[in-house]
Amino acid sequence: MRAHKLLLAIAGLLISDAAVAASGHALPYTYQPDTSNIASMQRGARDFMAYCSGCHSMKYLRYNRIGNDLQIPEELLKSSLMFTSTKVGDQIHSAMPAEASKVWFGQTPPDLTLETRARGASWVYSYLRTFYVDTTRPVGVNNLVLPGASMPHVLWELQGWQVKEAAHEGGEAAEHGEEHHGAPLKLVQAGTLSPDEYEKFVGDIVNFMSYAAEPGKSIRMGVGPKAMVYLLLLLVLCYLLKKEFWRDIKH
Ligand code: HEC
Repeated sequence: MRAHKLLLAIAGLLISDAAVAASGHALPYTYQPDTSNIASMQRGARDFMAYCSGCHSMKYLRYNRIGNDLQIPEELLKSSLMFTSTKVGDQIHSAMPAEASKVWFGQTPPDLTLETRARGASWVYSYLRTFYVDTTRPVGVNNLVLPGASMPHVLWELQGWQVKEAAHEGGEAAEHGEEHHGAPLKLVQAGTLSPDEYEKFVGDIVNFMSYAAEPGKSIRMGVGPKAMVYLLLLLVLCYLLKKEFWRDIKH
């Protein structure tokens, strides 16, 4: 009985990244991060530094670790990723003093190193895609998955502006399944990227953030099979050794 419950709990942990927000509501978009796509994570790292590190830190990650893991040469690392620091061994701090940002936004922008593990990749992906115009909010926007968010829509130039579609508010679930219509939002002013390009842009950032949350993961996946082969060989050797010892004793 107890084993049964334990199994259920483990299964629950495994699917915790599924398309379910903490509140139990379905998320408008799902996203399966790809931390084997180096090019995408390189773009994500570049974009994160350019658009996010002004406010958010990633203080459990160092620049040279990113450089090694994502195969970014030191020169490029220094010239195009390191805006808030000069030493490659430094952790990624935000450019903004925590106290001041609390006054400006009412919230200190949280550290994002472990964000995709805390909220799930699909949540972060949905968050970055579902800012919409809301003039009742101090920052002029609201967010579908974080209602009342105090973060401005920092990617508006790329995405453009979305508004909430009144018709959907009654809950026409059937229409939500359509491609690019996962959220009841309508683009009313285009940005510099097409909706498809913006989707990929956000995907790159989420891939990078998923790497940042577990930088050892792809390395661990590589080590796993080798460790299994090693253990199997060891097992065979131990078995042969055991046979060897017992032969003398039996006769
Ligand atoms: C101008 C400052 C600023 C910039 C730039 C910024 N953010 Fe934020 N961000 C905030 C603030 C403030 C919050 C807190 C929102 C709240 O809790 O209401 C926040 C919250 C978040 C959260 C939700 C945290 C949580 O779990 O509640 C995520 C995810 C996030 N930001 C991602 C990003 C990403 C990715 C970028 C770059 C594309 C970015 N932010 C750029 C200020 C900023």
